[in-house]
Amino acid sequence: MTSVLRSAVTGVGGYLPDRVVTNDDLAKFVDTSDEWIVERTGIRQRHQAADDQPVSDLAVAAARRALEAAGRTPDEVDLIIVATTTADLTFPAVATIVQRKLGCPVGIAFDVQAVCSGFVYALSVADGFVARNRSQCALVIGAETMTRLMDWTDRGTCVLFGDGAGAVVVEPRAGEGTTADRGLLGFALRADGTKQELLFVDGGPSTNGQVGKLRMQGNQVFRHAVVNISEAVTAAAADAGIEVSSVDWFVPHQANLRILQGVARRLGIDEAKVITTLDRHANTSAASIPLALDQGVRDGRIKPGNMLLLEAMGGGLTWGACVLRL
Ligand code: ACO
Repeated sequence: MTSVLRSAVTGVGGYLPDRVVTNDDLAKFVDTSDEWIVERTGIRQRHQAADDQPVSDLAVAAARRALEAAGRTPDEVDLIIVATTTADLTFPAVATIVQRKLGCPVGIAFDVQAVCSGFVYALSVADGFVARNRSQCALVIGAETMTRLMDWTDRGTCVLFGDGAGAVVVEPRAGEGTTADRGLLGFALRADGTKQELLFVDGGPSTNGQVGKLRMQGNQVFRHAVVNISEAVTAAAADAGIEVSSVDWFVPHQANLRILQGVARRLGIDEAKVITTLDRHANTSAASIPLALDQGVRDGRIKPGNMLLLEAMGGGLTWGACVLRL
């Protein structure tokens, strides 16, 4: 056995804004129904940030809970990575705003933009610091105010998204180089920029100077999702040296219940092993995986030592998966 440094997830936290918007609430001003949304997506409600609540506030609330769970304090944090596509400002990065609001010391702080896959990408980036002993206490946060990007006249998109944040603390831990080690054990990250038109926001600082609205060819994205995610899950499991069947819990990005079921069927995964939050949270983009992780840990299903598989696909297209032992 060789001694290796692993990036261990030592604390998890989540935050959802107080305001809950049900499908019936949306049906008051969009031509839709609770029945259609539940049947096609599995979503029943979503949370929406208050008008004066920037995404950094959501990120800070989730980060505080993750630090508390890890038994760490803000003054120990030396790396902050925020996965988001809905930053407070074009710059600075949300991560530096979180650093200031939490009162963390001078360190490394930046954002990762990979839309719904952002949290998996950000974990991989954090692994590059932590497993090389370049960070002793990292915060990896997925935080989004997706409702700010909605065209509320487009029923094909505005019913799908919600706001929230999730965070994990990542710290170096000695391992033996085996799959019994605690920590991030395998990744598969993918991007295909030729599929941009399937899912994008039609604004930006260097095009029209606008924030823009989310545009999606939902059924086309859906067609790619099950195939792409399944491939990434298989590749991440191979990278970690495990069988997909040995995973204790699947913690997927929460876009559509039918995608979750399709991936589970394709890979022979028992649906009882899939953490599902989209009925209450809807699609919170980069926040959805850490929020689902937080849910599973806090309700006692996910336990220390469990093998987890995280996966996501989103705008870009980007997609990816991560194997970790908690
Ligand atoms: N209420 C009622 N009817 C609706 C609604 C709605 N909210 N939205 C669409 N419809 C109608 C359409 O107009 C269409 O009507 P028509 O047949 O008269 O033209 C009909 O329902 C079917 O539309 P489809 O788009 O084909 O419906 P589909 O079954 O594909 O479901 C959905 C749409 C839910 C968007 C699905 O395609 C999906 O979930 N796609 C994947 C989304 C995803 O994973 N995105 C990636 C992550 S997001 C990110 O990265 C930011």
